[in-house]
Amino acid sequence: MPGGLLQDRADLPGGSVGSGKRRLSQCRWQMLRAALLVGLPSLSSCSGIQSALDPAGPEAADVANLFYVMLTGGALIWIGVVGALFYASRRGREPHSERLAGWVILLCGAVGPVIILAALLSYAVWLMPNLRPWTSPGEAGTHQIAVTGEQFWWRIRYLDQSGAVLFETANEIVMPVGERVLFTLEAPDVIHSFWIPSLGGKMDVIPGRINAVTLEASKVGLYRGACAEFCGSSHALMAFTVKAVEPAAFEDWLRQTASVDRTSDADGLSLFLRHGCGACHAIAGTQADGKIGPDLTVVGARETIAAGTLPNTTEGIARFIRNPNEVKPGVHMPAYGMLPDGDVEVIAAYLKGFQ
Ligand code: CUA
Repeated sequence: MPGGLLQDRADLPGGSVGSGKRRLSQCRWQMLRAALLVGLPSLSSCSGIQSALDPAGPEAADVANLFYVMLTGGALIWIGVVGALFYASRRGREPHSERLAGWVILLCGAVGPVIILAALLSYAVWLMPNLRPWTSPGEAGTHQIAVTGEQFWWRIRYLDQSGAVLFETANEIVMPVGERVLFTLEAPDVIHSFWIPSLGGKMDVIPGRINAVTLEASKVGLYRGACAEFCGSSHALMAFTVKAVEPAAFEDWLRQTASVDRTSDADGLSLFLRHGCGACHAIAGTQADGKIGPDLTVVGARETIAAGTLPNTTEGIARFIRNPNEVKPGVHMPAYGMLPDGDVEVIAAYLKGFQ
């Protein structure tokens, strides 16, 4: 017989029961320790700029509540199952009658789970209208932002009440607190998922259709959004920043951004145009009007560049121009390492100067 509890008991009639009990209590202690080791570190990541459990808006608050209620339901079921397991592992009990065992199976295996799961499902269905509030385009008091999931960045277009594009930017969303923002989502090639955990649930971005999600920020702050659907080699390098600001500051920002002039740095602009950057990138007020890559009109004011991948510094921009694929594998922009170093630095400084 292979080594184990049964063999110990058979071989050592005198000391077997004591050592078996010791092992059982050791085993219980190890299970508890494993649960704590897994559970405690995850609690420390419950706050921050990208946490669904640190909500900064009503939709996200409902998502967090749903999580806690589901967690409580799951914990009740878990406690019941583990309790039954411990009860069954006790030694020296008389077997139950068949009738009692039948009742235990019926109540714990069917009636109990049906009641708990039905209650959880009802709560989730009741919460649904709050989780996905519907807003029509052009509705009074609602801002509309059109988001396009590209490989691997986010095209952001601010629309007016009639749906016309005010201006375009990329990878950073500025929105007013306390006001609803309708995000319309589309993609030209592959599926992405638009997710700002601090503000609400995720929504798929699917080629060939326009999805919509309405979000509201209730606290001024800086949040982080991410792509939540695998979309290619740089799926994990497709983040964006969300700045929630006071409504008055938002209106000022809209006005300023819609009327910027990017022609003052003549050297930077002329190198940018001469090396062909304007074929893919647009800069408002200049001849650069490419539509393939991100609009760079306000790139200097962003927190990060390359969709959350690099800090927004002149060095970061220069590094990306020289070899974007090294920063973000699979990116469509070709490498410009062949340009003279001085030219790359002038272009980087020109772009960083856009505030
Ligand atoms: Cu875009 Cu994952």
